[in-house]
Amino acid sequence: MRSAHGIFVFLRSMMDNPTRIGAVLPSSSALARMMAKQIRLSPGEAIVEIGAGTGVVTAALLEAGVPRDALYVVELDPRLADYLRKRFPGVEILQGDAATLTDLLPAHRIGRIASVVSSLPIRPMPKSVQKSIVEAAFAVLKPKGSFIQYTYPPFSPLRDPSLNIEGTRLGRIWFNVPPAAVWRFQKKA
Ligand SMILES: C[S@@+](CC[C@H](N)C(=O)[O-])C[C@H]1O[C@@H](n2cnc3c(N)ncnc32)[C@H](O)[C@@H]1O
Repeated sequence: MRSAHGIFVFLRSMMDNPTRIGAVLPSSSALARMMAKQIRLSPGEAIVEIGAGTGVVTAALLEAGVPRDALYVVELDPRLADYLRKRFPGVEILQGDAATLTDLLPAHRIGRIASVVSSLPIRPMPKSVQKSIVEAAFAVLKPKGSFIQYTYPPFSPLRDPSLNIEGTRLGRIWFNVPPAAVWRFQKKA
């Protein structure tokens, strides 16, 4: 749910850095639920969320049953990271760049992440930045792990062939502002 305080913190961060935030409002809970619905977690595995913003997707992941100690949340903006720490006690909030995931996560989790769930504004990012984030995500994912991403346009947000990934569009949420589609990416065989 979008709380008034959450929207206020989000708007302040957006005014400081609009391209890094890349959205006019926090995600809707319907979009967050569709992202969370994609998660399959086996014992010993964890989930990583990147670009959490105000935590709308974080809340949906917890509601979908992801245990607090199996969720790692990465947010670049220190103000939003502080907000997330207060909102989600017991969840590991890592303030830093998603491109450095292998340094941010504890060593025992590398290669045991079932899914990386991304709210990053990844489509308009330069190809080199996209590449470093996608490579970092697949470096921590288990074999056949998935990278979940939402996007606004009707085409894939990650189209550079050198990424060596294939995407499936899982659905579209018309009630989000603007309407958004959820995609799942996996490494090509
Ligand atoms: C579209 S907003 C997330 C919206 C979020 N789903 C919500 O409802 O609040 C994108 C977020 O990604 C964060 N971000 C941008 N670049 C990042 C990076 N390289 N690593 C981690 N977080 C990043 C921004 O600070 C922003 O909070």
